[in-house]
Amino acid sequence: MTVQKKYVVGITDHMIGTPDLEADILGEDVDIDFFATTDEAQFSPDRLARLDALMVWGARLGKDSIRHLSRCKGVVRYGVGYEKIDIPSLTAAGIPFANNPDYGTEEVADHALAMILSLHRRLWEHDARARGYTSGWQIHSLKPLARSNKATVGVIGVGRIGTAVVNRLKPFGFRIIGYDPGQPRGHEKAIGYERTDHLEHLLGLADIVTLHCPANHETRNILDANGLRRLKPGSILINTARGELIEDLDALEALLRSGHLAAAGIDTFAMEPPPDHSLLRAWRDRDPWLQGRLVITPHNAFYSDHAAIEMRGNAAQTVKILLDEGRLRNRIDA
Ligand code: NAI
Repeated sequence: MTVQKKYVVGITDHMIGTPDLEADILGEDVDIDFFATTDEAQFSPDRLARLDALMVWGARLGKDSIRHLSRCKGVVRYGVGYEKIDIPSLTAAGIPFANNPDYGTEEVADHALAMILSLHRRLWEHDARARGYTSGWQIHSLKPLARSNKATVGVIGVGRIGTAVVNRLKPFGFRIIGYDPGQPRGHEKAIGYERTDHLEHLLGLADIVTLHCPANHETRNILDANGLRRLKPGSILINTARGELIEDLDALEALLRSGHLAAAGIDTFAMEPPPDHSLLRAWRDRDPWLQGRLVITPHNAFYSDHAAIEMRGNAAQTVKILLDEGRLRNRIDA
């Protein structure tokens, strides 16, 4: 005879095979219903209606699903960003929502630094060219190539990850300018960067721009074609935050082709996988004009073996506290 458990926790989808770590943390009172799909259309109303809590990884959660969450005490995202979650509909249904802010901060910061340092040192271009060298070898063909303490990095969004990036940049001697209207005055003094209240100012000064703000109604397309054109000629652009911040791939391609943009490092696209585009074709085909100047990683800046465990453990712990104590930590309101 199967014993009815006290709670049912749904997990929409995850990169994991089985939610064993979550089951260990949630304990014996909890039955896990693993939907194992990012396709919201497949979330059956009956299964949603049984849930006491729901954990979401890559799926969208909209009002058609939310209206069936009739006994759900909270929805928890495994990740930091929540642009795919309809928080107003959750609020209207009286269901609180939480994200998972404290996993993978180090990894995204390391990833951004790896992109910044390798593109600034023109490592990928040297690698691409050296493959063709058979006689000459120590050819210093790539100019300009600046010393790190002669270069300025502009950090857009100096929250958890942006701050971790600033801390990593400091020992290299980069001049660091931060733009973050959400941080209180004096934040820059505590962390150690120059604050600007004007994005334009940062774009005009920075040799390298790195994005670390969320995608929301203010920041979507924060670097549109006009914004991209305001970047300093010869600058480098890094996006490990959200693809929605730079949606115009035509403009990005034009600036890379003209050399206005020396290089770009991108971990996230507005649609993933990204639809066909001539810039991506040039990158896939290793077109000579772009070789070593565009580095793309498949939205895995957050990942390390350690961060993956931390992410799953933290999210499950958030649900456990909710079920045991009725309190939702890391709550985000509409
Ligand atoms: P956070 O919330 O600690 O920091 C975001 C900062 O952006 C805040 O300080 C906020 O005031 C600032 N901000 C908001 N609007 C802004 C604007 N208009 N201009 C400039 N700054 C603005 O978030 P955290 O943990 O640092 O994450 C940042 C972003 O990184 C997330 O929203 C997420 O989209 C992305 N991310 C990407 C990952 C990846 O694997 N590529 C993994 C984790 C997060």
